[in-house]
Amino acid sequence: LRVLVLHGPNLNLLGSREPEIYGSQTLADINAALMLEAEQAGVELSCLQSNAEHELIEAVQQARGHYQFIVINPAAYTHTSVALRDAFQAVQIPFIEVHLSNVHAREPFRQHSYLSDIAEGVICGLGSMGYEFALQFAIKHLRSPT
Ligand code: DQA
Repeated sequence: LRVLVLHGPNLNLLGSREPEIYGSQTLADINAALMLEAEQAGVELSCLQSNAEHELIEAVQQARGHYQFIVINPAAYTHTSVALRDAFQAVQIPFIEVHLSNVHAREPFRQHSYLSDIAEGVICGLGSMGYEFALQFAIKHLRSPT
């Protein structure tokens, strides 16, 4: 069982980026916690961060046949990227959309997502725990899809 975790633009700055909104954990902290959770469950996990839309799209395209589930924080591309949506629709890999902050309590432009309606689920506002819950779901889902 293989799960892919994708982090979108500016998430490489976690820890120092607006900590009152995004928390004080770094991306490395978050990935390390996820790797541990996956290891304990006997699931293979890969984590990738990119500031480039095309790299995220390529990662989704290449996930076909290699990963059974994707957890993604698309960051700002959530609100802009038809291309990322099209990639998910093309590969048909189930995914969860995660946001650290509660996007619904912020600027209006963060309240629309190009991905939410085709996601298995959406988690926002729970900080880094959101990723952990998403991974827990993925593990359960992969073990018994129904
Ligand atoms: C975010 C929310 C987005 O609106 C924003 O552009 C981000 C991070 C979050 O995790 O809360 O970069 O996805």
